[in-house]
Amino acid sequence: MTRTAPWWRSAVIYQVYIRSFADANGDGVGDIAGIRSRLPYLKSLGVDAVWINPWYKSPMADHGYDVADYRAIDPLFGTVAEAEQLIEEAHRHGIRVIPDIVPNHTSDQHAWFRAALAAGPGSPERERYVFRSGRGPGGAEPPNDWVSCFGGPAWTRLPDGDWYLHLFAPQQPDLNWQHPEVRAEFESILRFWFSRGVDGFRIDVAHGLVKHPELPDLPPRQEPAVLGPLISRESAGDRPRSHVDHPHWDRDEVHDIYRAWRRVADEFPGDRSFVAEAWADSPERLAAYVREDGLHTAFNFDFLMSGWDAKELRTVIDDSLAMLGAVGAPATWVLSNHDVMRHPSRYGRRATKRWTANEPYRPDGPADLELGTRRARAAALLMLALPGGAYVYQGEELGLPEVEDLPEDLLQDPVWERSGHTDRGRDGCRVPLPWSGGTAPYGFSPDGASAAPWLPQPEAWGELSVAAQTADPASMLELYREALRLRREHPALGDGTLAWLDTGESVLAFRRDPGFVCVVNLSPEPCPLPAHTSVLLSSGPLADGLLPPDHAVWLAV
Ligand code: BGC
Repeated sequence: MTRTAPWWRSAVIYQVYIRSFADANGDGVGDIAGIRSRLPYLKSLGVDAVWINPWYKSPMADHGYDVADYRAIDPLFGTVAEAEQLIEEAHRHGIRVIPDIVPNHTSDQHAWFRAALAAGPGSPERERYVFRSGRGPGGAEPPNDWVSCFGGPAWTRLPDGDWYLHLFAPQQPDLNWQHPEVRAEFESILRFWFSRGVDGFRIDVAHGLVKHPELPDLPPRQEPAVLGPLISRESAGDRPRSHVDHPHWDRDEVHDIYRAWRRVADEFPGDRSFVAEAWADSPERLAAYVREDGLHTAFNFDFLMSGWDAKELRTVIDDSLAMLGAVGAPATWVLSNHDVMRHPSRYGRRATKRWTANEPYRPDGPADLELGTRRARAAALLMLALPGGAYVYQGEELGLPEVEDLPEDLLQDPVWERSGHTDRGRDGCRVPLPWSGGTAPYGFSPDGASAAPWLPQPEAWGELSVAAQTADPASMLELYREALRLRREHPALGDGTLAWLDTGESVLAFRRDPGFVCVVNLSPEPCPLPAHTSVLLSSGPLADGLLPPDHAVWLAV
């Protein structure tokens, strides 16, 4: 054995949505002190790292994805000194820390954007962003037909007549990545945090930074610009999917930026690593982000968007492993995050098919949460047995469902307003975690907190709290703990390869060496198990030695 593989090739990374993880100061919003107080929990869960959603100074128009100062922590969350303490304490627990970085856009309150507004049309200050004159008489029409991911046009006009580009909310002006100062500034921000000990970054909208220099209209018949839960894509059945030369998504020139970022990461000791949030047309296009001189890993959203369907999942797994393997990169697997409906609620619906062309995930009637939870347990064992790394979104280990009945007047996601109240947005997967007790705030905030949690927690969440699930062998939490424990210890798990076993169309079964088999039954009938010496872990009880529908099992062979 030569050098041990770097940690990020097989890491299980826990996503901390900071607003909703743990509130130490009782203002109803999670904070850094809250994360610090829960490090023992993360240690006992058995994760290798945490990815923390943006904690920078921000007016919170998109809950931190609108950054006003990349070198400051928002007072809502804490201070830079507390962030340093967190990094140090996490490291003492053997947990690495990966903050989010948001390079596609700043806040409209960022010093650069304020200076651009003050300096007026044609000024050098405006060149760091994407300002243009409008089209049509008096320049009254936007410069092109681009559309904001949150709904409405991607351009806003200023009183001085100029328009500026924002692929997200108007409070999130897009930076001009052709500008050398923009490039230099972000390399300096990376160094600022690397020298404070962070182990890497999750790169927000990594595929969006470079725009076509002429800002042409969207290609004909191309659906409006959408991303994430709203992304436009074709179904897995239609592969190979063709790559469209898009004026602002996934342009080849973006990789220059990441080659430079890689050089910055490599200036620092230890294995610092990047994970790209890149939505690409195909696994081939995704693989371009993770070359040896580029980023280390990228989220594999194809897995997340697959329906609960053996054929679809197998296609996604095979394509991902082949394309990423060809460039020497590990796969990453993800089932949920802060932008999509939580997976017990997705899997608990009849239409669990892959999200289809140009449509966000749209629920078809109420979720059957018993079914969804059963499948979520099986999906966890599938994900954690696959070669590569995995992401666990906070609360997924508790089996939290999407909160689909938040009162409309409490919805905060800009998607709700920007869509003209047709899309409720992403608040339902961002509800504060239940830690203990039978009533809200379920230990999320301390006793005697001055404010209620920023989103209301459902009445039944006491049963799902960490305290309620701890030591209950049938709970989702103990399933995750046991799976993560076995994953750490078993030499076959983590980085590596897999070999499929022939178990028919609706059962996924694969072998990993040495001596490990995972079987997932997506058929409506119980299925027999391959020969094995023992059952290591199963997502639910076996019935007469058979694996029931919507169950998964790990076997020693
Ligand atoms: C993040 C979203 C955010 C958007 C704009 C996304 O990719 O995951 O939560 O709203 O970027 O920064």
